[in-house]
Amino acid sequence: MKNCKLSLMQVLCISFFCFFLSTQARRHNHKHKHTHPHISQPPSPPPDSASPPEEATNPNNSSSGVFDVRSFGAVGDGQTDDTEAFKMAWDTACQSESAARILVPRGFSFMIQSTIFTGPCLGGLVLQVDGTLVPPDGPESWPKNASRHQWLVFYRINEMSLQGGGVIDGRGEKWWNLPCKPHRGINGTTLPGPCYSPVAIKFFMSSNLTVQGLKIKNSPQFHFRFDNCRNVHIESISISAPARSPNTDGIHIENTNDVQIYNSVISNGDDCVSIGSGCYDVDIRNITCGPGHGISIGSLGNHNSRACVSNITVRDSIIKETDNGVRIKTWQGGSGSVSGVTFSNIHMDNVRNPIMINQFYCLNKGCTNQTSAVFVSDILYSNIRGTYDVRSSPMHFACSDALPCTNLTLSEVELLPAVGDIVLDPYCWNAYGELQTLTIPPVSCLLEGVPRSLLDNDIEHC
Ligand SMILES: *[C@@H]1O[C@H](CO)[C@@H](O)[C@H](O)[C@H]1NC(C)=O
Ligand SMILES: *[C@@H]1O[C@H](CO)[C@@H](O)[C@H](O)[C@H]1NC(C)=O
Ligand SMILES: *[C@@H]1O[C@H](CO)[C@@H](O)[C@H](O)[C@H]1NC(C)=O
Ligand SMILES: *[C@@H]1O[C@H](CO)[C@@H](O)[C@H](O)[C@H]1NC(C)=O
Ligand SMILES: *[C@@H]1O[C@H](CO)[C@@H](O)[C@H](O)[C@H]1NC(C)=O
Ligand SMILES: *[C@@H]1O[C@H](CO)[C@@H](O)[C@H](O)[C@H]1NC(C)=O
Ligand SMILES: *[C@@H]1O[C@H](CO)[C@@H](O)[C@H](O)[C@H]1NC(C)=O
Ligand SMILES: *[C@@H]1O[C@H](CO)[C@@H](O)[C@H](O)[C@H]1NC(C)=O
Ligand SMILES: *[C@@H]1O[C@H](CO)[C@@H](O)[C@H](O)[C@H]1NC(C)=O
Repeated sequence: MKNCKLSLMQVLCISFFCFFLSTQARRHNHKHKHTHPHISQPPSPPPDSASPPEEATNPNNSSSGVFDVRSFGAVGDGQTDDTEAFKMAWDTACQSESAARILVPRGFSFMIQSTIFTGPCLGGLVLQVDGTLVPPDGPESWPKNASRHQWLVFYRINEMSLQGGGVIDGRGEKWWNLPCKPHRGINGTTLPGPCYSPVAIKFFMSSNLTVQGLKIKNSPQFHFRFDNCRNVHIESISISAPARSPNTDGIHIENTNDVQIYNSVISNGDDCVSIGSGCYDVDIRNITCGPGHGISIGSLGNHNSRACVSNITVRDSIIKETDNGVRIKTWQGGSGSVSGVTFSNIHMDNVRNPIMINQFYCLNKGCTNQTSAVFVSDILYSNIRGTYDVRSSPMHFACSDALPCTNLTLSEVELLPAVGDIVLDPYCWNAYGELQTLTIPPVSCLLEGVPRSLLDNDIEHC
């Protein structure tokens, strides 16, 4: 509870014994540094993302299963409304019995309105984006009758690949500057009222999805949202928006399972990846996050809802210059559980709250403590190293009074202040778990055993 400050020298001395013994840990650290020498560079598009030459010569060669949007009337000058052409290309490809490829050719910029591309289609589909896709430029140009919640929606699709070397540019700036956004009103105020801004790309009730190679930037709101999907593979994409763009989460998943997010770079103004209720079997590997708000499970249990999240792994990744590193956040009053989460081989670079569990998450002043909570258990933090921003403690485990967090495991966690030599103590509140190795800074606040309140409480397992 109290914030006692040790000097860096004291901590290093305490930990010297650990350093000395733990050659295994040092080897890991060494290896980690060298396996990602160029990790912050944007991913290069996969070799198959370039359009084969024959597609360029015959834009409407439907015998090859390629449907070039230009042959359906798309202009691609960045201004003409190409929505109808895209819909026609989609419907035609969707009715194709063999695998079909919709081509968005390189060298063109297509403006499309908020559109729902609906399945199921007869065969698998590839949407090959080698050119650029843009929406209307900001809320003033957005048609009055079009949804302000979403731009490109893929609904009830089984088997689709969204891929290519092109760019999907959400043109978010005018949305970010609406006076209802945080601090964007007169003199830095925030005006009340609905403030919907479109999610750039939304997959809803779909399965067997691949997103590969693309660059997605400047979404008005979340860049990707997967809702009620299964079997989602995301690979070698780059997502970018300014650090000060509000709510521009990189990839948000909700009620979605069997997800892989690999080899991608995300910098934005909110969570890099956020994992909502109903997600399980999620594997995140080799991603670079920052600036932004880090990787987040939650927020869960809002409005007394039930949330279940399990089997989540985040590994071999870099988180830099973010507000949070790896975070689990739940509201008071929820139910359900978060369990089986592994964060391993993660390098932190000047991160404000590298390791955090917050069961008192609250966005307004009116939250009260309640006897029900989303139960958090079986969380492993392994080989997490690097530096933290000294404005807050590097490890923060704030767990519910009614349902404490259990089985938190820390192994090879070494976090040093990014500047200066003030070491902030880890914070724990109702956090039960154990250290497998000594840590930097040392953690002495985890409680041992099984909390009594758990015995009195019926935990609703998911
Ligand atoms: C259409 O594509 C197929 C397969 O790529 C190719 O064999 C055929 O020659 C193309 N036809 C025309 C008219 O370009
Ligand atoms: C391309 O194919 C579609 C669907 O068969 C057809 O409607 C369209 O007119 C064709 N365009 C050209 C330029 O041949
Ligand atoms: C919006 O209105 C325009 C013009 O009346 C119409 O062409 C378009 O289909 C409408 N869009 C939606 C999503 O209803
Ligand atoms: C904004 O701030 C300026 C300078 O403090 C002040 O003169 C002005 O009245 C403020 N405007 C509003 C609408 O509050
Ligand atoms: C898609 O995934 C489902 C399970 O979610 C599976 O049963 C189905 O065979 C897959 N379809 C294809 C075309 O891969
Ligand atoms: C990690 O991802 C980056 C792209 O961000 C890629 O260049 C690199 O090859 C990947 N590393 C491994 C080991 O796959
Ligand atoms: C956890 O998820 C991974 C895929 O990310 C899967 O291979 C594994 O079987 C799952 N484990 C359990 C216990 O379901
Ligand atoms: C909720 O409980 C926590 C921990 O006991 C305490 O720090 C916090 O002040 C309480 N909040 C309210 C609104 O009572
Ligand atoms: C504690 O959590 C780890 C995963 O972090 C799991 O492997 C282990 O089985 C859990 N222990 C108990 C007693 O549930």
